[in-house]
Formats: sequence, structure tokens, C-alpha cells
Amino acid sequence: MQEIVIRRPDDWHLHLRDGAVLKGVLPETARHFARAIVMPNLVPPVVTAAQAGAYRDRILAALPEGATFEPLMTLYLTEGTEPADVAAAAASGLVKAVKLYPAGATTNSQSGVRDLDRVMPVLETMAEIGLPLCTHGEVTTPEVDIFDREAVFIDTVLDPLRRRLPSLRVVMEHITTEQGVAYAAEAGEGLAATITTHHLILNRNNILVGGIKPHYYCLPVAKREHHRLALRRAATSGNPRYFLGTDSAPHVDALKEHACGCAGCFTATNTMALLAHVFEEDGALDRLEGFASLHGPAFYGLPLNDGTLRLVKRDQPHAFPEKIFTEAGPITVFNPGFPVHWHVEA
Ligand code: NCD
Ligand code: ZN
Repeated sequence: MQEIVIRRPDDWHLHLRDGAVLKGVLPETARHFARAIVMPNLVPPVVTAAQAGAYRDRILAALPEGATFEPLMTLYLTEGTEPADVAAAAASGLVKAVKLYPAGATTNSQSGVRDLDRVMPVLETMAEIGLPLCTHGEVTTPEVDIFDREAVFIDTVLDPLRRRLPSLRVVMEHITTEQGVAYAAEAGEGLAATITTHHLILNRNNILVGGIKPHYYCLPVAKREHHRLALRRAATSGNPRYFLGTDSAPHVDALKEHACGCAGCFTATNTMALLAHVFEEDGALDRLEGFASLHGPAFYGLPLNDGTLRLVKRDQPHAFPEKIFTEAGPITVFNPGFPVHWHVEA
């Protein structure tokens, strides 16, 4: 038996949804994570401070007895977002970031931004007060191949924006390419990148070879193997510019196993065990704590968590639940396709 104890981790990019799905998936995150940056792409989206406050209350009400978990709220940036509302939401401590979805880029992004010029006053306010912008970094131009959308976003949207507003703090969320890794490595300290668990494990063959695997389909879509290896090197490097954002994105099975299946991998249940597997494989177990528990709070200017998390590796593989059952339907837990000997021990 092998074990490591790390400071209790946080998830810097998480989808909790609402209603019955929220009730079903929240315990999976709250069991291991102290805090999470909660994505605002509900239907309708969480646009105003008042909506974020109400959503936070619903999350807290859905927590199991005795759970300690703090949702860190975000606002969904639209072309109608009021700079003063964002500033007030940040000043009150309610909101920790604003999320940029290019319109049409992913699940529930139709209210997102079409023209960055129209949100410049909001972004200028955010730069002044130091409120980070979380970016879904993909262009939506129909002519751009889906596997190139992240790299094109960096060149045509992100880099020009940062030149225009250098003091804006930016999180490149769920990077999936070596271009994303390289951009974050070279940027100043006002930029960080999150990496998901599943993008450390999957390449595009895993989605498409031997039959289509809807539970491996997420956005940004997993890329070629050399990109996965670049993400592994970044995550396990110890560089504080990279930290964990699982992008655990639950959809009920009926919507994943579908002619037009939803994007998202649900990894909340076994993320920490899978990360231990990945970091051990790369000889970097001692860097897992930085990635999952230290670099994120440093970037967001938040205190480190008090508690700890104990991960144990046994000879026998650990059996994770195949599905989480919610009142909205079953949700399949991410299956990495290999035996996992690590698990979190209470
Ligand atoms: C997310 C979702 O389902 O809300 N899906 C996903 O594949 N990651 C949206 C997102 O973060 O792109
Ligand atoms: Zn997401």
C-alpha cells in the first residue's frame, strides 16, 4: 500500500447544473473538494449578481448534511452585462470571475459574446478591480476545423485582447493543445490555464476508434496524442501557471447517448484518484498538491484550504460507481479505460 496526503483540493472549473441534477452531482464534488469555481451556463444563464446570489443559495441548500463546500460564483458575460453590476458583485465577495463564452462555442453558450468590442467596458472594469476573466477558448467560425479552434482563438482573440488590455487577469480554461500550454508558459503572471482530468487521459482516438464513445465527447474536444502529452508535461511540471479545473460536466445518459449527444465528461466522482494515477505514472506524485490545491488559490488570491485529502493505492483496482443516479436520470461516471488502484480514503 502506498499513500499520499495533500491539502484539500479545489476545482477551478465545474458544472453543477440546477434542480435534480445539482442535487445528484453536488455530493460527488463536495466529498473531496473544498471549493469550486461554478460555471454559469444554466438555462437561462447566470448573468447578474442577483442571479448568482440566488444560484449560490440553491447550491448551498442542495449540500448534504455536514458537507463543507464553498461555491465560488461566476457571471456569464453577455453583450448586455453592466460593468457596475459586475463591480458590485465582485466587491461583495459573491463573484470570483466572469466567464466568456464565444456565442455558440459549447453547451448553453447561445447568449455568449459575438463582438468583443461590445463588452470592452466590462472587461476594462474587471481589469481595474482585478477580477479574472475565464475564457472558453474556441472560435466558432464555421470554416475553422473543430480541432483547430483553440489554437485559432489564441491567435485571433486571446492574444489581441491581452495586448489591448494587458492588466486583465485571464484564465485559459480547459486547455487541450500544445499551443495552449505554450501560450500560458510564456504569458506573464496575470494569466493562468486550467487543465481537466480527462484531457490528461484521452486523445481523439479514444473517442473515435472502435466505435464512437459519447461519454468521451466534451468541448474542447480531445486532440492528438502529442497534445495530450504536452498537457501531461504542463500539469505535472510544478509550474504554478497550470492548475486543476475538472470541467466535470454532467448530462443525463439519455442526452449523451443520442443522435446529437451533449458535450461533457462527468469526472467529479473519481477525479482525484485518476490524477493520482496520472501523476504517479509521470513520476510527479509530489506535484499533485501544487496542481490541485496550491496554484489555484494563489492565482485567485484566496487562502489555502485547511483540511487534507488522503489518497491510497492498493494492489487491487478500486471499483468506482458506473453511474450516479439522479431524479433527472442516470449520469455516467468517467471511465478511464484502465484499472485505477488509487482512491480517496476518508
Ligand atoms: C460543458 C457543459 O456541458 O456545460 N461541456 C463540456 O464539454 N465541457 C460546457 C463547456 O465547458 O464547454
Ligand atoms: Zn466547462
